Amino acid sequence: MIETNSRTILSGVQPSGDLHIGNYLGAIKNFVKMQNDFKCFFCVVDLHAITVKQNPELLSRNTLEVVATYIASGINPEKSVIFNQSSVSAHAELSWIFNCVTRMGWLSRMTQFKDKAGKDRENASSGLFIYPNLMAADILLYKATHVPVGNDQKQHLELTRDIAQKFNRDFNCEKFFPIPEPIIEDNTSRIMSLKDGNQKMSKSDLSDNSRISMTDETDSIVKKIKKAKTADVNMPSTMNEILKLSEINNLLNIYSGFSGKEKKILINEYQGKNFSKFKEDLSEILVDVINPISSEIKKLMQDQKFLKRIMLEGTNKANQVAKKTINDVYDIVGLIRNET
Ligand code: TYM
Repeated sequence: MIETNSRTILSGVQPSGDLHIGNYLGAIKNFVKMQNDFKCFFCVVDLHAITVKQNPELLSRNTLEVVATYIASGINPEKSVIFNQSSVSAHAELSWIFNCVTRMGWLSRMTQFKDKAGKDRENASSGLFIYPNLMAADILLYKATHVPVGNDQKQHLELTRDIAQKFNRDFNCEKFFPIPEPIIEDNTSRIMSLKDGNQKMSKSDLSDNSRISMTDETDSIVKKIKKAKTADVNMPSTMNEILKLSEINNLLNIYSGFSGKEKKILINEYQGKNFSKFKEDLSEILVDVINPISSEIKKLMQDQKFLKRIMLEGTNKANQVAKKTINDVYDIVGLIRNET
């Protein structure tokens, strides 16, 4: 039996396209660091992905590719539980219960819904609106105490905390759900587009040059960094000046995230210089880290049986914990689970 303990992590990634360096720096790199100190559950959130239209064949492929990216990046399936959300039906069951706990007003304030639904809100799926309830279910099903995410998920985490508190209060079961803490890194939790320092780097950006994927080859990485927007000045010498230049700040965050060097040190190294050497060095660092991950992803994708086996083992472990929580929740809410 898998024991969750006082330090449990759950986090997830949508299989909605090629993962990019924003996903890596904002989330996956931290997952890898945390697996020694926490009991970890890393989910591929396929039910979240279908809140917008997906091509079914691509969805299955992308699901396996997220699993491959987790493993290629250093998540060890012996230590961490890797599984896909739709295989553990308690996610959907608990999210329904949360649909009845969360207030419409809370959901209406979610900026991600507003961004994703855009102007044509009437045409957005109802799944997109209640998306944060499913996310709360993902987290609370495992009684996660900590959730490593990028900055764009901060508001969803706050909602998760509100849902946990309201459930505990409404059903008079103080401390049943823990109130999870987000873990959001300072400089790498919001990696921006390479073409526009005010837009988040995103899987759905129409321009491939806006992002570097974890499966990009050397040529493509070098070309994209060469094309990345900078500024018509040399590298400034102070953090204050840098912060006013969003594209430069972003490239420094990426450089720092991949090299482990502090931004201050990088600024000292490149101040007063134009950006060509900086870009050359940045490409080199990116290639050094991404190349081995990318070849491992491609290798793993040739062995889908192996990936499915990892997912099955993960599903079995996740199910042990999830079943216990959902059964307790049914009891608390007064639902009779009549099964053999
Ligand atoms: P998703 O699939 O959009 O992104 C996966 C993770 O990558 C982070 N991220 C970024 N970090 C830095 N810079 C960026 N440009 C960037 N883009 C994405 C995200 O913050 C996320 O941590 N709703 C979630 C998935 C989810 C989840 C959960 C996360 C579902 N259930 C439970 C944590 C816990 C999402 O859409 O992530």
